[in-house]
Amino acid sequence: MDSIIVTGNGPLSGQIPIAGAKNACLTLMPATLLSDEPLTLTNAPRLSDIRTMTALLASLGAEVSSLQDGKVLAMSSHDLTSHKADYDIVRKMRASILVLGPMLARDGQAVVSLPGGCAIGARPVDLHLRALEALGAELDLRDGYVHAKAPGGLKGGVIEFPFVSVGATENALMAATLAKGTTVIRSAAKEPEIVDLALCLRKMGAQIEGEGTDTITVQGVDRLHGATHPVVTDRIELGTYMLDPSICGGEVELLGGKRDLVGAFCNKLDEAGIEVTETGRGLSVKRREDHIKAVDVTTEPFPGFPTDLQAQMMALLATADGVSVLEEKIFENRFMHAPELMRMGAKIDVHGGTATVTGVDRLKGAPVMATDLRASVSLILAGLAAEGATTVSRVYHLDRGYEHVVRKLQGVGALIERVPGA
Ligand code: UD1
Repeated sequence: MDSIIVTGNGPLSGQIPIAGAKNACLTLMPATLLSDEPLTLTNAPRLSDIRTMTALLASLGAEVSSLQDGKVLAMSSHDLTSHKADYDIVRKMRASILVLGPMLARDGQAVVSLPGGCAIGARPVDLHLRALEALGAELDLRDGYVHAKAPGGLKGGVIEFPFVSVGATENALMAATLAKGTTVIRSAAKEPEIVDLALCLRKMGAQIEGEGTDTITVQGVDRLHGATHPVVTDRIELGTYMLDPSICGGEVELLGGKRDLVGAFCNKLDEAGIEVTETGRGLSVKRREDHIKAVDVTTEPFPGFPTDLQAQMMALLATADGVSVLEEKIFENRFMHAPELMRMGAKIDVHGGTATVTGVDRLKGAPVMATDLRASVSLILAGLAAEGATTVSRVYHLDRGYEHVVRKLQGVGALIERVPGA
């Protein structure tokens, strides 16, 4: 298995281009199953999760061509040859559950493996299933699979989520586009990825109102047609690279970055003493002073502080002046990066969903292990600011969500290299 070696070497400067959003692309791709006409996505990120979704769609009979070095995905689902999403693929990537709603809406049948647990908590799919039942789906859970049927087609209904779920909102939204009648989704997720999905579905002929608010209303249509859609900018990749100059000093411009994608995160950076400026091409980031101030952070659904930036923020706060308290409200067990940061000299106390971080002067390089996608990049950020070399192993996690991470960081002057495994 490959490792990444990063050596702290002071201020960074230059530009980093931000890719299309992994999480948006992973819900836009299954939308191809809703139509027998082609759906083309531009600005797609080049990531292993996208290749996994490609394999899943292909296993159902969709054609997915990766063009322009992977930046364009040309998809076509003329006839589905299978309605079964197999455990072998679903276990690799939880987002596989997003094929359930579209398949059911189009053909009235779907069999999808339950994703099982994952490194950042139990992560059930009960909300996805309840939403589809509200649209008239008949579900049977056996042998680790959801067997779903809607013999006369899905029917519009009221879906009232008990709390916000990004994936369940996406599944419900896609299914509702072809359901007969009106669907109202309450306590819907408001993430930019949901808005992007609604934009794309509308280009395909769907009738949707209210995306980006708590309530989404969908008027079902008989069929959807083809479309071309650019994937929205990845706000998590953006936030992650905004932390490079925050941690190391210097100034970095994030090309394609927009403040409204990362508003709550920018507010916390401002409190910590980081300046974010809109440049017309993106966002430019630098420290206001030499020192970073401690800040308290609570993760929340959008527009709150994203859980997917919590680990990276912890890496920044590890060397802040004072004590920061980080509360993780979305996922249990999402502090697995803390013990690894502690191996680098960070002072962190974890109690349940709360981590208390007491800033130290400097971190020291150490061998550390990536435990999940965002944890792995937080270790790289910490390594950029540490004294000496940090070796991050198990970097396959990183390949799921960050394209060309080594090249992008080398481009702003970081000392970082990827070393092939034995
Ligand atoms: C998506 C993102 C992930 C991000 C998360 C929260 C993708 C591919 N992944 O994940 O990067 O961290 O949103 O912003 O877009 N829950 C249930 N039952 C369900 C569904 C969810 O209890 O049926 C719980 C989850 O365990 C979690 C919370 O709801 O505690 C929110 O999860 P959700 O928003 O659904 O996350 P994902 O869509 O899986």
